[in-house]
Amino acid sequence: MQIDLSGKNALVTGGASGIGRECALVLGQAGARVAIVDINLEGAQATAAALAGGLAIHCDLGNPDSIYAMRDRVMAEMGGVDILINNAGIISYRQGIKAVTLEEWDLVIDVNLRGAFLICREFIDQMKARGWGKIVNFSSMAARVGGIEAGLHYSVSKAGLIGLTRTLAREAGPHGICVTAVAPGIIATEPVKRQIAGHESAYINSIPLRRLGEPRDVANVVLFLASPLSDYVTGIVVDINGGMYMG
Ligand SMILES: NC(=O)c1ccc[n+]([C@@H]2O[C@H](COP(=O)([O-])OP(=O)(O)OC[C@H]3O[C@@H](n4cnc5c(N)ncnc54)[C@H](O)[C@@H]3O)[C@@H](O)[C@H]2O)c1
Repeated sequence: MQIDLSGKNALVTGGASGIGRECALVLGQAGARVAIVDINLEGAQATAAALAGGLAIHCDLGNPDSIYAMRDRVMAEMGGVDILINNAGIISYRQGIKAVTLEEWDLVIDVNLRGAFLICREFIDQMKARGWGKIVNFSSMAARVGGIEAGLHYSVSKAGLIGLTRTLAREAGPHGICVTAVAPGIIATEPVKRQIAGHESAYINSIPLRRLGEPRDVANVVLFLASPLSDYVTGIVVDINGGMYMG
């Protein structure tokens, strides 16, 4: 059986690199028209170029006005969104509560949590009007077990996304919209590879599947959550971590 998303419009934040890029590619390969929204326009354009009808849009999720402008452009160019993947995020590594400055707290909470909230708020009415939709928010294992190397502010932002997911799932469910979250473990993207260089084996030994995750491992689950195959699944957090944490 193949997942067919033809006729659906998808929006992926953070699609310029890492997991977001892979999500945009699998959704596009399944037939969706994909808007790639990122602060890194060049990277977003590279992802869009790999897809038929891909649209790259610059947006700084930490800036509400930038989000409103992006919403207007998506609505003008695509006419609406059926699938919303709130993947963009800043992975911030800090050891100890005292290492988290006020500025960094605000930046991480604003981009990771407030950005996703605003995108959901700005697109929810048109999703309700369409009568079917999928929202997938990016939490993290850091919200499930606490940050290991990731900072407290990062863990808080990712825990907040679980509250956003569950509350919005209650509101949006009667309109045919499923709202879910994914909580990846250690996925080998650039920021993670840089951070764990030299001690990867300690992580690998603690993962029952004995390997780090790849962006495609996460994107495949997102594809399922974005497709009609998961139409009776909402309000849940899917752990994608090779068994490192079993909720
Ligand atoms: N890689 C992991 O191990 C892991 C684990 C758990 C959760 N996650 C989450 O998965 C998501 C993707 O992570 P990744 O590893 O692919 O990271 P990444 O750094 O490779 O990609 C993040 C993307 O978000 C974009 N972005 C950053 N700030 C932005 C802003 N202000 N406005 C718009 N776009 C912005 C970046 O340009 C980049 O394209 C993040 O939310 C991250 O917290 C990752």
